[in-house]
Amino acid sequence: MDDLITLYVTDLSGTRHEIQAPTDMGLNVMEAIKANALPVKATCGGMAMCATCNIIIKSSHDLPELSESEEGMLDEAFVLDIEGSRLSCQIPVTRDIDGLELKMAPLSNPED
Ligand code: FES
Repeated sequence: MDDLITLYVTDLSGTRHEIQAPTDMGLNVMEAIKANALPVKATCGGMAMCATCNIIIKSSHDLPELSESEEGMLDEAFVLDIEGSRLSCQIPVTRDIDGLELKMAPLSNPED
């Protein structure tokens, strides 16, 4: 299907998952991860107010620039300086991120 993209998600145990996400539903990456039954805490539900959806981008895709609120949240959580650190809820699922490779970060652990 043309409106499905593939994301590669490495979970906290190091297992790599290939997941599919639709581009026509207004989802963000955090929601795509949850929709595929992978664990992500995401306490604030996608409002850029918690950093518990933190991921590390491992591929070289062109992503939307950090917004002021995303940058502030990553800074507050002390993960802004980690290369590739982003809030998964602030990255829309679009064709541009097809094949995105990402790793769940420790802050995203629902067990904590
Ligand atoms: S879910 Fe809270 S910042 Fe992304």
